[in-house]
Amino acid sequence: MSKTILVLNGPNLNLLGTREPQIYGSTTLSDVEQQCVQKAADLGYDLIFRQSNHEGELVDWLQEARDTCVGIVINPGAYTHTSIAIMDAIAGIDLPVAEVHISNVHKREAFRQVSYVSKVALGVIAGFGVYGYLMALEGLANHLEN
Ligand code: DQA
Repeated sequence: MSKTILVLNGPNLNLLGTREPQIYGSTTLSDVEQQCVQKAADLGYDLIFRQSNHEGELVDWLQEARDTCVGIVINPGAYTHTSIAIMDAIAGIDLPVAEVHISNVHKREAFRQVSYVSKVALGVIAGFGVYGYLMALEGLANHLEN
């Protein structure tokens, strides 16, 4: 049985570190990847870390994970608030999904307070900066083991 967790990042997260640092901080996505790989190893999991600016590619990777992964951490970026396709993909694959947002979307614009992904996620972490990815990995591992 594979023990791999997929960490998926949506649009514009490739710009992390330089994109609106007052909101998203100065850590790069590559730094986040390294931190996630280390945290997953500490928890006894392998990790696949991916980013795409394209909705369909994210859907493809979610579907692939059904056969290869035991759980998913996803920061869907702006697709959080718009994508029925990502919501349906998560609903269709029967894997636990932790939704992460670097910023606290609930104290931002009204449109960020709607999440299609939350409707099918196991849990949601928002507002703790990139540390939220590590929190999500811990939460997912705890869920998988209990
Ligand atoms: C985000 C919040 C979204 O509203 C935004 O579109 C992002 C990043 C976050 O991590 O805080 O791209 O998901």
